[in-house]
Amino acid sequence: MTLDTTTRHAPAAEPDKGDIQKFWKALYDSLYEDVDRGLTRDALWRGLEQLEDMFRFRDHMSVREMPLHDLAGKRVLEIGPGAGGHSALFARYGARMTSLDLTFDRARSVARKFDLMGADATGCHALQGDAENLPFADGTFDIVYSNGVLHHTLDTGRAVDEVRRVLAPGGRAVIMLYCKSSWHYWINMFLVVGLLKGRAFGDPNWLGKATEWGGRHAQSVANPITRCYTRRGIARLFGGFTGLTMRKAEFYFYLIPKLGRLYRRFQVKRYGTHPGGILVYGEPWPIWSPLEAWLGRVMGFCWYIKAEKPVGGTP
Ligand SMILES: C[S@@+](CC[C@H](N)C(=O)[O-])C[C@H]1O[C@@H](n2cnc3c(N)ncnc32)[C@H](O)[C@@H]1O
Repeated sequence: MTLDTTTRHAPAAEPDKGDIQKFWKALYDSLYEDVDRGLTRDALWRGLEQLEDMFRFRDHMSVREMPLHDLAGKRVLEIGPGAGGHSALFARYGARMTSLDLTFDRARSVARKFDLMGADATGCHALQGDAENLPFADGTFDIVYSNGVLHHTLDTGRAVDEVRRVLAPGGRAVIMLYCKSSWHYWINMFLVVGLLKGRAFGDPNWLGKATEWGGRHAQSVANPITRCYTRRGIARLFGGFTGLTMRKAEFYFYLIPKLGRLYRRFQVKRYGTHPGGILVYGEPWPIWSPLEAWLGRVMGFCWYIKAEKPVGGTP
């Protein structure tokens, strides 16, 4: 999720895991709690159909890089499942999900979705834990999936090493990390927020503060950390893997500061919204135009990364 905010915060000391938990809990309370409160099994089932339809429309990594029809019986770890829409979708295809989130309320909301799924989520569970210290033995999983999480942790390199460690040899990592070589970073963020609004001066976390808030309520807790990566940076992070592929995606005119708001009104009128967004963003997703879909492939803010743990070599 990439939502612009222009809230100002005083420069903070080095963040710690407690700050990260506080931020994601605040966002959860503001964005998902209402959706989760009234959730029934039928609504969840309908929501998952809509979610898959939305992801297919967007050619999202959860339906392209993830082998949905081959998930039955696979041991899949999702790191940072948020409210759990992705994990529930994979469980619906028979994956044996382990869903680990740093924020307790988020792990609990995933667990509740598995509960609602009953026998359809057999062998699935959610827990609180840290991507940088995964509480699993080497080689535990066939697939590790993580969408928009590892660029928000203190040591992304360590988290990627953990992904590799817990994968079985030949296992697959499917990871989304933010892309530096993108319109959103250089124009919306660096030029407008960083330089013209002067937020980049003297604050190493200016990017964190300018990204992520999408809550219904005014933001009161700053996002402690957001990083983004060039193609070379991704290649470095995944140096211990084999078969690395990455592609760009996700471009939205509505994220252009100020002007974007006007565009969003037009966009919703012209292209409508998709209910598939409710489970993962707490609200319908504003459908992008064909031009935005194309721009996403050229200068989008997300890297969809796929890589495998080599067979043989160090664990
Ligand atoms: C942007 S949300 C992504 C949620 C979900 N993957 C999605 O795409 O809807 C980031 C999530 O990562 C979690 N998170 C942040 N740092 C983490 C860490 N070190 N270990 C595990 N989870 C973490 C947060 O609690 C939050 O739920």
